[in-house]
Parts: sequence; structure tokens; C-alpha cells
Amino acid sequence: MCGIVGYVGEQPALDVVMQGLRRLEYRGYDSAGVAVLGSDDELRIARKAGKLANLDAELAGTELPGTLGVGHTRWATHGAPTDRNAHPHRDCSGAVAVVHNGTLENFAELREGLTERGHSLSSDTDTEAVAHLIEERYDGDLAAAVREVAKELEGSFVLVVAHREQPDLVIGARRNLPLVVGLGDGENFLASDVTAFIAYTREARAVDQDQVVELRRDGVRVTDLDGNDVEGETYHVDWDTAAAEKAGYEYFMLKEIDEQPEAVAETIGGRLGRDGRLRLDELAISDEDIRGFQQVVIVACGSSYHSGLVGKYAIERWTRLPTQVEIASEFRYRDPVVGRDTLVIAISQSGETADTLEALRHARQQGAWVMAVTNTVGSSIARESDAVFYTRSGPEIAVASTKAVMTQLAAVYLVGLHLAQIRGTRDGDEVRSHYADLAAIPRLIEDTLTRMDPLRKIARDISDAERVLFLGRHVGYPMALEGALKLKELAYVSAEGFPAGEIKHGPIALIEQGTPVVVLATRHALSPKLVTNVQEIKARGARTIVIATDGDDSVTPYADHVIRVPDTKSLLSPLLTLVPMQVFSAEFAMARGLDVDQPRNLAKSVTVE
Ligand code: F6R
Repeated sequence: MCGIVGYVGEQPALDVVMQGLRRLEYRGYDSAGVAVLGSDDELRIARKAGKLANLDAELAGTELPGTLGVGHTRWATHGAPTDRNAHPHRDCSGAVAVVHNGTLENFAELREGLTERGHSLSSDTDTEAVAHLIEERYDGDLAAAVREVAKELEGSFVLVVAHREQPDLVIGARRNLPLVVGLGDGENFLASDVTAFIAYTREARAVDQDQVVELRRDGVRVTDLDGNDVEGETYHVDWDTAAAEKAGYEYFMLKEIDEQPEAVAETIGGRLGRDGRLRLDELAISDEDIRGFQQVVIVACGSSYHSGLVGKYAIERWTRLPTQVEIASEFRYRDPVVGRDTLVIAISQSGETADTLEALRHARQQGAWVMAVTNTVGSSIARESDAVFYTRSGPEIAVASTKAVMTQLAAVYLVGLHLAQIRGTRDGDEVRSHYADLAAIPRLIEDTLTRMDPLRKIARDISDAERVLFLGRHVGYPMALEGALKLKELAYVSAEGFPAGEIKHGPIALIEQGTPVVVLATRHALSPKLVTNVQEIKARGARTIVIATDGDDSVTPYADHVIRVPDTKSLLSPLLTLVPMQVFSAEFAMARGLDVDQPRNLAKSVTVE
């Protein structure tokens, strides 16, 4: 997650770009930078680690005159959040300025080749390689150079590029991540989302996969990577600057739910090396130590605990390592059996949750290895762990966790595969095949999001219910727990999640005529048993809202409402069924007139035990 702006027009570019960056700061605030092309054909750059305010301070009293500029606000992935790694990045001659959102999978090879060919790279970023590649390809046609370079890049990217010999041209290029054109009068804009230019124009044009934009004062041309013109859809944005921080959404939570395809793409992207092996380079635990593990213990709280429960299924399946999942606040008080042969995985969005931090400290005291799965670079949990997997979901503002949980799920699958690859419990073909299934998930989440209107209506219709139950089996069970937690914290109703097979041992007594029961019934080996469980509750009068896989009609005869999700491997289904859990609870709470961004009594980062 990074925010990107490009501008060419008649106004002072610095003001326009800085205003755009302010709107995009939610996408990352590890550093910020701008480049402005002056009338003397000089590209002047200012960049600073930390929040945009630091760049503002840096720029105070300085002039960057010019009417063409690019800007960036960073969520660090390659390279620490320092001034040196802040964008824009330049080539050897200083003629090219590039800003980038995304992760380039082949950046190591690209950098190596550039160094061999005599380029001198001054940052640790993948982005800088792009500036030098453009330098090599440029022969007066900047768009052609960017198209050629884009063909060489593997991974995800949005690039925005300026060149000192091109006073009327900014180039944009896109793969997998968002880029939108703002269409002005005598001026045009490029940005990660429309909030960046909404103060200037509400006319926008979407940019599709593998397209390159040529942005000039008087017009915009969009081509494919071979330079063929492509038609595009323009649209009018019907909200204004006041709504800009939320990009037109009523609540951050709704925006964050919709950001999940991109967030998961960030988590998963760039993990397969050229040799076909999964690469989680940041996990600095040696292969030898990983082979020595005898057990895995996952510690986490709340929604992160539910991600851990899903992780247990994946890790045990793929690695055959016994895996326990522990509520972090309970862990250290029962003298757990962990030692040098134990991998403890601490999952925490904020990286600051005191219960989880104390659990990992206890585990380390016992000699265990600790791996953090967190969204927050430099957080306490990250700093105190032996290895860190960053989920890269971008800043999450709503208190109830949505996209961060989704990326935690993606992360635990990747960690499970990584352990299996090193321990040799899954062969290369199988690891690659699971990775391919994971790589398809962002598109499937996008599809799932388009199917949620009927569920919203159901949620509104039953929003006066004071009790809702959630049932699931296998990996559906943790998602039932998550659905119940979300509903509790947002709508303040009594909600409980159960393993579907367990209800006959007691909870079925809760069911009376009309009790809403959400059943996670996506296709898996236990489906026939789940059908029986649904029949049992239906017979007692439950109003069943069934989440089912496309084409699977085994449970639908017992459903009052059916919500479909796309098919995927059953083990990965939480990455899709999480979406209806979030949408249902948000809509239910909004129908009760509640603020879903700031539920009562809660805080985003729980730093007390
Ligand atoms: C629920 C929620 C909380 C957090 C929990 C752990 O929507 O957000 O249950 O999951 O407080 O927080 P982190 O992941 O920051 O450790």
C-alpha cells in the first residue's frame, strides 16, 4: 500500500501533489516525497522519512516551482522507512523520477543486471531499478520506454514517471494495483484513488490491467503494453472533498472491506522465486532450525486468534507439526510446555497488543522461537520476535478489524507452506499449486464482494434480533467465531459461534422459532454432516442464512436464505467466507443506527493486559 499522485497542468504542481498526498496518507506514512519539473527543465526532488508532516516541514521556505509533478506516500516493503528509500527514485543522470506502489518479484535480478551494466543504485528499494531501466530504454519517447520496462517487470506495480526532457508528459502504468485518471480542463491527474484529485475534478477514467497512460495538459492517451490505443470508461464521482478521507464511503470499515482484494494481493504478491520456490525472505529463521521444530503454538487475541485457528488447520495439514492455538491472555499463566523445539507464532494487527506481547516474551524466556505476523512495521511485537512476516494490508482505521484479519489469513497459509517446503512435507509442485490457488484469491474476493446485496437486505430485515448464532465445521468454525465476534462488537447483540457438530450437545436449546442462524456451509469433506446439522436446527424453527459454494445445492433445501461464494480449495474458503461475516455485521449494526467505525468501549490497539 502506497499512495501515488501525478499532475500536469497550469497550477503550481507542488500544491496539487501535496494536497493529493494528504488525501492518500491513509495508504501509508513511512515516508513521503515529491518531484517537480521546473521551467528550466530541472527535476527537483524533496523526500523525507515519516509522515507527510515531515515533508511539509522539509519544504517550508523552499520553492519547487513548476506545473508538472509526481508524489508518493509510502508503506514500506523493500527497504527500511528512511529518507534514502523514500520515493521518488531517480536514474544515474537524474533525468527520470519514478514513484511506485507494489512489489517487484524480479527486483533482485533487475538490480544485479543494472549493477553489472554500470548503474549505481543508491537505495534498497525495488523501485529504483525501474528508474535505471527507463534510463536505458529512453530515446526521446518516454511512453515507449515505460511500456518496454513494464514488460520486464514481474509482480504488482503502479508506476508514475516524469522525465526532465518532457515538460508536458507524465506516464502512468498499472498491474494489479489501483490507478485512476482525473480529467480536468487544461490539467490532468493520476492517482491511487480519486480522493487525491477530487478537489479539482470529479471526472475520472479507470485504468485497466497492463495499461500505460500518457498524461498531458490537453489530453490523455491510454495504450496497452504494445502501444495500441485502448478505450476506457469515464465516470463522474458523485461525492465531494468532505467525503474524501473515506473515499466516498460512509464508514472506514466499509472502505476497508472493499480494499481486501488489493490488501491480499499485497500480502501474497512476490513470494515465488524464479526457481519456483516460495520465498519468505524476511523470515530469518534458518532452514536447520525450522527442520528442528517439534510443535507450533500460535498466540493471539480476538479476531487475530481466529486467524490463528485457521492457521492450525493449514499448518497441521501441510507440515504434520502438532499445532495449538492459544488465547494470548491465558497462555503464560498456565505454564505452557514450550522450548527450543517450539515455533511460537504471535499474530497481531497492531503489533502492540499487551496480552500477545507478554505471551511472546514468556515463550522466548522458555527458549522458543517467535515469529510475528503483524501489519505494523517496527511495532513492539515485530521488534521482539526472531522473525517477522508483515501482512502489508495498509493502515486500518476502523476499530473492528477486517482487511487486517483477511491478510493474517493469507499470511498463515503462506507461513504453513513455507514450513512445509523447508521440512519437505510437501513437494515443490504441491507448494506451487497451493500458491497458485492463493494468488487467485484476490480476484475471488472481488467477486464475493459483488454478491453481498442480498445479505445486506437480510441483515437489515433481522436487525431487531437480539440473538444470532453462527455455525461452521472445519475451517468454517473459526469463521463462525469471527462472524459472532464482529456482530457482538458492532451491533451489541448476543452472538455466538459454534462448531456445527457441537450444537446437539447443548447450544441447540437456544433455538426457538425465528432465531437467525448463519451457517458457513461451503463445500468440504464434512458437508454431508453439516447438512444434517442444518436439518436439526431447521426442524426447531431456526431462520437459516446459509453461505454456500457456487453449484453446491446439498444444503440449500434447508436454507431460508442462500448466499453464494465462489469455489476455491476448501482449506482456503475462510478467505472468501470472511467477507459475508463482515458485511452482515456491518449492515446489521448500521440498521440499528450504530457507528461501525468506533464501537463503544473498544480501542484499536489494546496495550493493557
Ligand atoms: C476485532 C478486533 C480485535 C483484535 C484484537 C487483537 O474486530 O479487532 O478482536 O483482533 O484486539 O488485536 P491485534 O491484532 O492488534 O493484536
